Amino acid sequence: MNTRKGIVLAGGSGTRLYPLTIAISKQIMPVYDKPMIYYPISVLMLAGIREMLIVSTPEDLPLFKKLLGSGSKFGVNFCYAEQPSPDGLAQAFTIASEVGFLNNEAAALILGDNLFYGQNLTSALKRAMQREQGATIFGYQVADPSRYGVIEFDSAGKVISIEEKPEHPKSNFAIPGLYFYDSKVATYARQLTPSTRGELEITDLNLRYMNENKLSSEILGRGTTWLDTGTHESLLEAGEFVRLVEKRQGLKIACLEEIAYNYDWISRNHFTSQMRDLGNSSYGKYMLGVISDEC
Ligand code: TTP
Repeated sequence: MNTRKGIVLAGGSGTRLYPLTIAISKQIMPVYDKPMIYYPISVLMLAGIREMLIVSTPEDLPLFKKLLGSGSKFGVNFCYAEQPSPDGLAQAFTIASEVGFLNNEAAALILGDNLFYGQNLTSALKRAMQREQGATIFGYQVADPSRYGVIEFDSAGKVISIEEKPEHPKSNFAIPGLYFYDSKVATYARQLTPSTRGELEITDLNLRYMNENKLSSEILGRGTTWLDTGTHESLLEAGEFVRLVEKRQGLKIACLEEIAYNYDWISRNHFTSQMRDLGNSSYGKYMLGVISDEC
């Protein structure tokens, strides 16, 4: 599999969650039994990505460092970079290149408040990872596409337009906050100009790839869940979803140590010592179950 770097964009202002997010970052907030940022990190890990840059505000970055550390507990490597103000999703790539994290390398970007789960997810991620040239975006059918970037497909399934929050959407396929790009991404991001709302738009980056005939898409079907967690309602719903699935299946969503252990990125000893650090929590007890089941 190709190696690729990953960026988790976990800044922003979180105004829709006020007063919850006045004093604390949205992406540290709990989604049932773990901090929100665990979920997008799990997606990059499932794709096979081990080098990640966590981008957040100067005020919140120390919290992420405290929570996640070097990444060694999850068999990955975390670097950290500041985004002084929320000037757009595509700015993740200009920042990553300025801090030396990306040097003409392929990269994936995931938003720190997006939660993905489902059976076909890992195979879709692996197909995106294997594409060396161009970019991959995902399409997910939603009831309310006007709130999102929306994809229009031709009869052969090729992306022929992308519109940001359209009043009259051309399809019901929204673009989730997960994008894979080839090694040109930082160069293309630097060439973007801010939109009328003053942001470096991810849609403009995707349109550049589309206009060069290098944009692929993967549909995430009914078997996959995509939730965002940006409002009080959606945050609670995401927590309820995780609780329900975990309780029913006895399997955790986004247990990062478990993913690392299954991928052979950490040893059994390493896994066990992490487990002890998590003490008596249900998360720690679940980890005990992961290794007990092997015997
Ligand atoms: P949004 O939900 O668009 O914005 P927000 O988190 O600032 O929230 P609100 O609308 O409530 O004020 O952002 C989506 C995700 O991307 C979220 O995880 C924050 C992150 N983000 C950045 O880190 N930097 C940015 O420049 C932008 C635009 C978003």
